[in-house]
Amino acid sequence: RVSIHIKDKKIPVTSHLYGIFLEDINRAVDGGLYPEMIRNRTFEDSLLPDDCSTPDEGYALVTSSGWRDEFNHGEGLSRWVRQNETPYTPIPAWYQDSALMELDTVNTLGKNRKAALTVVFREEGKIYNTGFCGVPQQAGHSYKLSMFAKSEETTVLTICVKEGKTIYSQGQIKVDKNEYTFYETILIASGDTGAGVLEISCSKGGKVTFGYLSLMPLTTFKGHGLRIDIAEKLRDLKPSFFRFPGGCIVEGISPSTAMRFCNTVGPVWERPGQQLMWHYRASNGLGFHEYLQFCEDLEMEPVYVFNCGMTCQARNEVLMEGTELEDMIQDTLDAIEYAVGEENTHWGALRAKMGHPAPFRLNYVEIGNENHGAAYEERYLKCYKAIKERYPHIKCIGNTHLEQKGLPVDIVDEHYYNTAEYFAEQYRMFDSYDRKGPEIFLGEVAVVRGYVGQLYGALAEAAFFTGVERNQDIITMVSYAPLLENVNYQAWFPNLIRFNNLKSFGIPSYYVWKLFGNHRGEYVLGTKEEVSVIYRPVKGMASLLGKAGLVFRGATWNGKKTEISRELSGRVTAADEVYTILGPDEEQRKENLKVHNSNSEDIFVIFGEEKDTVGTFQIEIKADSDRE
Ligand code: AHR
Repeated sequence: RVSIHIKDKKIPVTSHLYGIFLEDINRAVDGGLYPEMIRNRTFEDSLLPDDCSTPDEGYALVTSSGWRDEFNHGEGLSRWVRQNETPYTPIPAWYQDSALMELDTVNTLGKNRKAALTVVFREEGKIYNTGFCGVPQQAGHSYKLSMFAKSEETTVLTICVKEGKTIYSQGQIKVDKNEYTFYETILIASGDTGAGVLEISCSKGGKVTFGYLSLMPLTTFKGHGLRIDIAEKLRDLKPSFFRFPGGCIVEGISPSTAMRFCNTVGPVWERPGQQLMWHYRASNGLGFHEYLQFCEDLEMEPVYVFNCGMTCQARNEVLMEGTELEDMIQDTLDAIEYAVGEENTHWGALRAKMGHPAPFRLNYVEIGNENHGAAYEERYLKCYKAIKERYPHIKCIGNTHLEQKGLPVDIVDEHYYNTAEYFAEQYRMFDSYDRKGPEIFLGEVAVVRGYVGQLYGALAEAAFFTGVERNQDIITMVSYAPLLENVNYQAWFPNLIRFNNLKSFGIPSYYVWKLFGNHRGEYVLGTKEEVSVIYRPVKGMASLLGKAGLVFRGATWNGKKTEISRELSGRVTAADEVYTILGPDEEQRKENLKVHNSNSEDIFVIFGEEKDTVGTFQIEIKADSDRE
């Protein structure tokens, strides 16, 4: 029995405590939250990337293209093959291709497009796109196929999604202009599959050049382009802020792979793609505008993380200087103008053209991600000054305790990846934080070692949150990382929500975050606890081990000083040990417990399963705790 006496000391809860952090890792975005079904829709994955350097030895860049012709069951135009993906299979010499594919790097759709795909179809020739490990279809759902294409002669293309011989949806497009023209058709699925392919065939044969080709579900979350089941799972967390777009991808591994706002806005087919440091290219179809729109749709405060003129810390750090650095800072100022500028500003006008005339909210930005050291501090200050000069209302988040270097910082972002035990033990770590210091944002928190992705780890995160909640006068924001994982492209584990082409589900931590996010309360109250323990011994050692026990922190237990709760299973190792301590009868058990409780400071109780109970007895223990 626990009696909690409420004291009158109250701390109002902070308004944005629980939020989400999205980074495009594990192919979280294209083929995921952004439900593009065509892999390599702009054909540029088939080019050698500008920058072939990778942060980690042993990884191959992921540029496998998704495109292949009828007889090539390998990767068609790809130059590189990722580990764990279908390996490249050379085309046997005796195969005659039904369609010849060639990249055109000159006559592309526009200045931002580096490749187009020219296909010479033979009669009945076909090409395929294999999607993100399959092109999905759901019975009764409609999908919009859109493309820019051109052809010297009128050419009729039949487009279908099929698996084996089963056709799930079908449409036709007549390409009748010899300049890039926008075509679209709606495909309606007659059945369910997660493993289809998109087939483009041409019965009479012909030559067509594709500048861009996309297949997306017609119905998306609030009509704003996101996959419904994933967006709903995020909504159900009741997040109050959204940190985006990374993470390490913001910095990249070279200036050419660093993220820039300007590449992520405007018509999607005009947006340059992005080589991400998680080893694949992103279309940027989910860009700055869409992120802000999602914030508006879920009433989340946007937290925009931007590159501050340096590449990914601790990997191959490259520092931007001079005009390159100035351009980078200007890119951030442009982003802010896009978000909050009036319609008559350059970037505000583009926002209006993209369908959002009124400014979005933007009150938080983060200067870099996980950066530190003198080079960071110098760039941080430049960015801070440039932002505050034009947008004094915006709160700037730093990656380290910059206040200790005498630098101005509104919020400090601390990241915690650790074991379940660490989190459970650290539930008081913020009690002693300096109340005069900046606010603290725990931007990336997750159990990543030991009980990874399991209930035990999730409970440890919950224990940690009790400390976060108690200290929300200083810890004002917290988010899990990473958020999303396509189960076919795992680059990191664990991730809060996992999905394939048809379904998504939360790991146990998801339900902890949801529970806390949905039950915020209004005040944190001071309490005084009084604890009585009813201990139910369980039958047999098998069920006792690691499951039941009574542990006194600081108490003497079998001649040993007890330390922490996680040693429970190690300490309670044999049935007789338990019975010796607890005694053969109730009187003796009480007596023994008194001895063992003599210098207790804290109490942890884990009950066995009720069904194993062989009898109950009650022991009253006066807790000597009197704390907030
Ligand atoms: O969440 C995955 C990565 O962990 C993030 O990109 C980075 O910020 C951190 O190191």
